[in-house]
Amino acid sequence: MPVDIQPALDFLKCPTPQEWIDEAIKQDNLEILLIDHANNELKAAQNAMSIIRRYGSAPQQRSTSRDIEKDSKHNTFTEKKAASTALNLMYRYTEHFELLNKMSRLAREELRHFEQVLAIIKKRDIPYKPLSASRYAGVLRKHVRTWEPARMVDTLIIGAYIEARSCERFHKLAPYLDDELKKFYLSLLKSEGRHFKDYLALAEGISEESIEERVAFFAEVEREAVESVDEEFRFHSGVPA
Ligand SMILES: [Fe+2]
Ligand SMILES: [Fe+2]
Repeated sequence: MPVDIQPALDFLKCPTPQEWIDEAIKQDNLEILLIDHANNELKAAQNAMSIIRRYGSAPQQRSTSRDIEKDSKHNTFTEKKAASTALNLMYRYTEHFELLNKMSRLAREELRHFEQVLAIIKKRDIPYKPLSASRYAGVLRKHVRTWEPARMVDTLIIGAYIEARSCERFHKLAPYLDDELKKFYLSLLKSEGRHFKDYLALAEGISEESIEERVAFFAEVEREAVESVDEEFRFHSGVPA
């Protein structure tokens, strides 16, 4: 049954520019595409795990809470209040099993994708060489607010955008690829489309106010990243220079 990726397409402000597709299918860039794709799957897993670490009840998190408590003794009232809000949030997220569970499942799924891309890289004798990250995620993360729960909400909305764009790009690129890659990329649509919805639902659940405005803000930042010129070709790069 074909996967309905329309919700992901509707969520994004613009499609992947055709210039990017034309660049991606050049033989020289296929290696970069696959290596960067593998790196992105790994980063997606790491991002989910860092959310678990930050908002879960790992021992390191408890010591962070103590540090905030200790620091706040010497700070002003406002800072104390901010620290105690952060503490409350940490305890609240510790109770937030849905977030922890979803992020854990997502991390496992992304690691599975990582292994699948690695297998293709190995099969094609492509050297798995170090590759710098594209500016895409950094451009989005630059706007993450620094206080809670805003920080968490922004992190989750950005997660939704990265997943939705990946889904849209796999879908648009697939018809231009060889059979093996085409099949693989189409097989990823289902999970990436689900990940985008999961991130968004979690952001809605955690936020104390409507996330509409933040979603619209990141939609614009994301569109700008995709439609502006990029010197380096990557999976999430913009229009080729
Ligand atoms: Fe993935
Ligand atoms: Fe994903």
